[in-house]
Amino acid sequence: MIEYKVTPELDVDVAYELYVASTLGERRPIDDRPRFEAMLRNANLTITAWDGELLVGISRSITDWVWFTYLSDLAVRESHQRQGIGVELMRRTQAAAPQAKLLLLAAPKAKDYYGHVGFTKLDNAWWLLPGETLK
Ligand SMILES: CC(C)(COP(=O)(O)OP(=O)(O)OC[C@H]1O[C@@H](n2cnc3c(N)ncnc32)[C@H](O)[C@@H]1OP(=O)(O)O)[C@@H](O)C(=O)NCCC(=O)NCCS
Repeated sequence: MIEYKVTPELDVDVAYELYVASTLGERRPIDDRPRFEAMLRNANLTITAWDGELLVGISRSITDWVWFTYLSDLAVRESHQRQGIGVELMRRTQAAAPQAKLLLLAAPKAKDYYGHVGFTKLDNAWWLLPGETLK
C-alpha cells in the first residue's frame, strides 16, 4: 500500500537517499548540498510516495498553477519501479494544477517512458545552459 503526500518540507537527507536509490542522483548535483537543498526548498509542488516510513518516489515541480508546470525531477526507488508509482506521482502533479501544461526533460534512462505513458514529444523546445551567452 503506497501513500502519496504533498511534501513542501521534505528532509534533505531523506531526499538524498532516494535520489541515490532511484539512480536519478547520478544526474543531479546531490553532493553540492546547498544547491540540492535549494532545489528541494524552491520547488513549489513536491509530491512524494511512501511505503510505510520509506520514501519510494518523488515528483518535484515548479508551477504557476494555471499555465505551466515544469516537472524537474521524477524518481522512483529501484526496488519499487514498474508498479505504477511514477504515473501516479505525475497524475497527482497534473491534478494539482489542472489548467497547466506539464513540461519536462527526459533523462536518458527514461527516454521511452514518457511517450509510453501518454506525453507528446516536442520539436520546439529550447534551452540556454548556465554560462551560455545570448548573441
Ligand atoms: C522513470 C521512472 C520514474 C519510472 O517510474 P516507475 O514507477 O518505475 O514507472 P511506472 O510503474 O509508472 O511505469 C508505467 C509504465 O511505463 C513503463 N516503464 C517504466 N519505466 C520505463 C522506462 N524507463 N522506459 C520505458 N517504459 C517504462 C512501465 O513498464 C509501465 O508500463 P505499462 O503500464 O505498460 O505496464 C523510474 O524508473 C525512475 O525513477 N528511473 C530512474 C530515474 C529517472 O530516470 N527518472 C526520470 C527523470 S526525467
